[in-house]
Amino acid sequence: MPGDNAKKALIDSLNGLLADYFALYLKTKNYHWHVAGPQFRDLHLLFDEQSAELFGLTDIIGERVRKNGGTTLTSIGAIADKTVIKDDDRAKVDALAMIKSLRDDNATLVERIRAVKAAAGEAGDNATEGMADDWTDQAEKRVWFLTEIAS
Ligand SMILES: [Fe+2]
Repeated sequence: MPGDNAKKALIDSLNGLLADYFALYLKTKNYHWHVAGPQFRDLHLLFDEQSAELFGLTDIIGERVRKNGGTTLTSIGAIADKTVIKDDDRAKVDALAMIKSLRDDNATLVERIRAVKAAAGEAGDNATEGMADDWTDQAEKRVWFLTEIAS
């Protein structure tokens, strides 16, 4: 039987990932609102799609924590405390810089999902382990699109 330590590690890992999803959601939405230049329409729409995809997983990840008996995020402060995604509060960001930043952040997300999957395996949480593959597929698609646009 998996021990309490494995379960606690999974809960911590899921809460970190949830914080990343919220942070990257808002960063992507920020770029959706503020992007400018000749690719405006395409990027404005792409960032909207990607932000919706990110937000769409937040409830699922939070509820994986609860189903594992843990407490999950309670506030914007808790998100800021746990995320590894860096804020970008600049008013004017070059469109290419936005694309590269989101590409790298989504690649980071892939690593964070991989850690959750490993922790889920250790804790015997088959449901999270299975779901993580879909989360990875989504994140890798975002990385792919952003990489192609930046090249
Ligand atoms: Fe919008």
